[in-house]
Parts: sequence; C-alpha cells; structure tokens
Amino acid sequence: MTDRKIDYLVHGGGPLRGRIRVPGDKSISHRAVMFGALAEGETRVTGLLEGEDVLATLGAFRAMGMRAEGPADGQLLIHGVGLRGLRAPAEAIDCGNSGTSMRLLAGILSGQPFSTTLTGDASLRRRPMNRVITPLSEMGSRIEAAENGRPPLQVHGNAQLRGIHYALPVASAQVKSAVLLAGLFADGETCVTEPAPTRDHTERMLHGFGYPIRREGQTVCLRGGGRLHGTTIQVPADISSAAFFMVGALICPDSDLVLEHVGVNPTRTGIIEILTRMGGRIDLLNLREVGGEPVADIHVRSSRLTGIRIPEKLVPLAIDEFPAIFVAAACAEGETVLTGAEELRVKESDRIAVMADGLQRLGVDARPTADGMVIRGGPIGGGEVESHTDHRIAMAFSMAGLVAREPVRIHDCRHVATSFPGYAELARSAGLSLSVEEGR
Ligand code: S3P
Repeated sequence: MTDRKIDYLVHGGGPLRGRIRVPGDKSISHRAVMFGALAEGETRVTGLLEGEDVLATLGAFRAMGMRAEGPADGQLLIHGVGLRGLRAPAEAIDCGNSGTSMRLLAGILSGQPFSTTLTGDASLRRRPMNRVITPLSEMGSRIEAAENGRPPLQVHGNAQLRGIHYALPVASAQVKSAVLLAGLFADGETCVTEPAPTRDHTERMLHGFGYPIRREGQTVCLRGGGRLHGTTIQVPADISSAAFFMVGALICPDSDLVLEHVGVNPTRTGIIEILTRMGGRIDLLNLREVGGEPVADIHVRSSRLTGIRIPEKLVPLAIDEFPAIFVAAACAEGETVLTGAEELRVKESDRIAVMADGLQRLGVDARPTADGMVIRGGPIGGGEVESHTDHRIAMAFSMAGLVAREPVRIHDCRHVATSFPGYAELARSAGLSLSVEEGR
C-alpha cells in the first residue's frame, strides 16, 4: 500500500449500468493460500484476490518456507510444505490491516514447534484477540499479547496440542477457523459450536483438500493428524465487494447492472436478503457451483427502497456489508433499525460510530445505538467524511456520493487496496463520477 494519503472526490454520476466483475473473495483467498501451504503437493489458484490483506497472508507463508509462483492475474501456484513442514520465520509476521490473517495464523502457529510474533497496522493493533487466545490456550498454546489482549501477539506454539470442544461466545468465522486450524495439529477431536451460522469457507475448503470434517447442527468437528492434499481452487468474486455496487445500482435511478460470477454461499448472502426485504430488485442469474462454492451473476435494478427492522439472525450473514446497507437505508423511505450488531464496533474501525458520524455530516438522520443504528431515509447532501482508514467505509460513502446533491470528499482512502484493488477505475467504468486526489 502507498504511504501517500489519497482522498476520493465523488461528483455524483450514474446510472450504474453494464456488466462488471469485482475482485476475488477475500475470505476464500486467505484460506486458499493457508491450506495450499499446509497441503502436500501443488495447489493452483485462479481468481485470487491480490489485495493487501491476502498478500500479507502470502508473505507470512513465504517467510515460513512455502514456495509459490505468482500471483499474476489472480493465478497462484503453491508448493505445499505439508502440515508439519513450516519453518520459524526470521522476523515478526506483519499482518498489515488484516484480522483474518492474524486470527487464522494464530490458530496455525499454535500447533508449530516454534514461537512467532504477529503484528499489524494501527487499526489491527486495536482489535480484540482474546477471542482466539482463550480457546487456543485451552488447547495448549501459550500466547502473549499487549494490554487487553491486543496485538502484537507472541505465539509460543506446541506441537502436542489437545483437541477441545469449544462453544463460541460470539458468532465469528475467524474464531471458528482459528480453533479448527489448531485442531489439525491436535490430539483427538476438536469441535466448535457456533451460536449462529457464520461463513463456512473453512469447512468447505478443508473438504476440498480431502480433509475429513463433519457438521452436526451448529457444531463442526475434525480430528487432528490427517493430511491435506493439494488441489485446484477457483475463487469467485467477493460478494462483500459486490455489495457496494448492488447498493449503488439500487439507489441510483435508471441503473441496471450485472455483477458477474459472485460467490453466493448462503452464509454470505444476508446482504441480498436485507436489500430484497427493503424492496430492492435483485435477481440471481445462472446459479452454479464452482469448486464447492455456489456462484451466480447478480442482476440489480434501481428500486424504491423502504426502511425495515433488520432481523438479528441476518447480522452474521451480512457482517461486512453494513456500511453499504446503511447507505441503502439512508436512501430508503422511512426508518431502518439495526440491533444485535455490536461486533461492528470491533471491525477495521468502529463501523457504528464512523458510519453514523459520516452520514450525519451528509445531513442524514442516523442515530447510533450500543449495538446498531436507527436511520431515517432522506436526501443526502454533500460534504467531507472520514474513512478512518477503513476500506469498506470509504467505498460505502463513495456510493452515497452517487446520489448526493453536492460533491462528497472521503478522506484517506488508501486502505481500499486491502480488499479491492482497482476500485476507483471499476467504479468509474460502471458510471460513478469519482476522482482520486492527493489527500488533504
Ligand atoms: C472473516 C470473518 C468475519 C469478517 C471478516 C472475514 C473470515 O469476521 O468480518 O471480514 O474470513 O473468516 P468475524 O468472523 O470475526 O465476524
């Protein structure tokens, strides 16, 4: 990522029309690199997200002895080292902005016969890690953290981990995955029970690598000591990146946009369900399965949206999409009420506080609550908002700028590169009037 600050300046634009493909799924890309590294033999990945977060994961495994060719044009060839083949890295591993890298790596490193330091940028160093430290310690790993369980983490691995049965206190796919990954190195069975369904890419991909894993209701279990076998992985486009364009096309008159080849795993489609309940015209075309993940082309047309009370059970299924959903709510008739979403406060930024603040600056009636937000739709004015170095906040406000009455300047958008390299160009090609300027 460039150290230079950049701002987005949006002068409206639209309608959003045509067919576009957003970059590869971030969650699947991280896991493709991790599992490819831990597998025996070669893993060929296509459609890999070449965003900063995934590159941090790739750098971590290269530092631990994995060889890989690429990535170039989304293609990566990984030469796996096997479950017991990682070597201690020479230096601390820098996870950058990426919570997924740090939490999943904490699980893998817990099973290694060496110690490693995991660090990250200012945003990541504010995020809670006790949620992984607690279960991994129970398995026999020793993890030291800074104050209040914040990074950097020193993971003192243990090649003789114990399998555990862990009931997740929060619905988190990252914590579930960290425990299951440690479970690969543990004696006996490791089971995780989730309070509500969360994204299941880890489970699907372990199956794809030939590793036995079973689910019963809300519990998923595996037994340590098996092997992963190199495979091929086609990463679909990221529904979390498509979300900004879905909202843009819904709120901007005369829009008619197709988002191609998007992953529509049912643990990720809360955004579609929420926007459809608000009156959004969204159709899934050409539904198919690619490499164990459902994929579709998503057709979105401008729609009159109405505020809703968002069912709490949809929150984990749309957890990364709330910045975009709040913009849709700001353009809907009536009130949208979100509850049960306190997790948004510990993402790359406090997404409740930061979105409420930015929406208010644009003249929207947005009231933050402890665990969500109440938004009354109305006209969006222009103004200046802060991204707080959060990629999804930057992209969400750029879509608000599509329908704003005056230009919208979004400060410090360089972190968009963590999940969506090429966003500004793709957004322009779809019809958004967005320029990238020297930050001020
Ligand atoms: C992710 C899980 C989610 C999500 C994050 C990616 C993953 O985090 O917010 O962007 O790849 O497992 P939590 O599991 O902590 O909710």
